[in-house]
Amino acid sequence: MKICLLPGDGIGPEVVRQAVRVLEATAAKHAFSVETSEALIGGAAIDAKGEPLPQETIDACQASDSVLLGAVGGPKWDNVDRSIRPEVGLLGIRKAMGLFANLRPASLFPELAADCLLREDIRSKGLDVLVVRELTGGIYFGEPKGREVRDGERVAYNTMVYSESEIRRIAKVAFEAARKRRGRVCSVDKANVLDVSMLWREVVTETHKDYADVELSYLYVDNASMQLVRDPSQFDVLLTGNLFGDILSDEAAVITGSIGMLPSASLGAGRPGLYEPVHGSAPDIAGQNKANPLATILSAAMMLRHDFDMQDAAQNIERAVGETLAQGLRTGDLMRGQTGLKLASCSEMGDAVVANIAKN
Ligand code: IPM
Ligand code: MG
Repeated sequence: MKICLLPGDGIGPEVVRQAVRVLEATAAKHAFSVETSEALIGGAAIDAKGEPLPQETIDACQASDSVLLGAVGGPKWDNVDRSIRPEVGLLGIRKAMGLFANLRPASLFPELAADCLLREDIRSKGLDVLVVRELTGGIYFGEPKGREVRDGERVAYNTMVYSESEIRRIAKVAFEAARKRRGRVCSVDKANVLDVSMLWREVVTETHKDYADVELSYLYVDNASMQLVRDPSQFDVLLTGNLFGDILSDEAAVITGSIGMLPSASLGAGRPGLYEPVHGSAPDIAGQNKANPLATILSAAMMLRHDFDMQDAAQNIERAVGETLAQGLRTGDLMRGQTGLKLASCSEMGDAVVANIAKN
């Protein structure tokens, strides 16, 4: 399999390096082979090419079977023109590859239960949520958008717009995902206020007719964000537009106590998909071999599952990550002063996962 790596900025390169080692170990074990190439995105591309998403990066991604991304952005590029900010590279590659469905699973590893930010009586009910976020539409891309002076004052605006075909295709992804999980979808909107949300709710309801075996409910986004901390066990799949999913997926991630653990997949109509950790570039610890590589390693597992339909190999990686945690190894983000834990570097974490894969 040809995998295009987009290491990006900050801790991106170091976590991607560990995930590649894990993929190679998994390939050796499961009799497939991995060939990697690298391309520039984000700040790294701005520095080298003057733009966050060079055309050759898009071409390299499209010519590959799958794409693994680290992270983009950092204070170094805070003052570049907003049309070439590092984030523009990330939004651009999602759009260019047609990756309209973003899957962000947030669950609690039993070994990390003590890291969970929720009260014991809440977390003991369970936390295993999949956010299915629309990724190439909504207010992120809507037109018109811009900034101008009106009546002597600055005005800026964006447009939240969805067509029914955009809503229908992401709703299908959510219903299909729910069928493989616990069979429940909660669609999140602001239909008490926004016209775009009223259409969202209408089309989700229509699409649901083909998925009568899946239970569908709706929440307004403000309520959803509250329910997610009050009782996350009520949720299986959360279906959202681009902006609401951005916000709720960070919330779902952090209540597990460990945003450094959470992977994601961005999928289009076929291959290649793009896989990346939910966390960002963490510039404060970049280059120090301190970052937690497990979210990227788990993203590689999602890659094997979604782009290559290799369930066993994906499970092998997930099991190896669980074993590494059970062995007491923790990167700094997961050290909360519990006894019996060993502080590990980014590469030591990678070593341990590789060793656990080999012995599985
Ligand atoms: C994410 C990030 C991005 C987004 C940013 C970096 C553009 O927050 O992937 O959630 O808003 O989609
Ligand atoms: Mg975000």
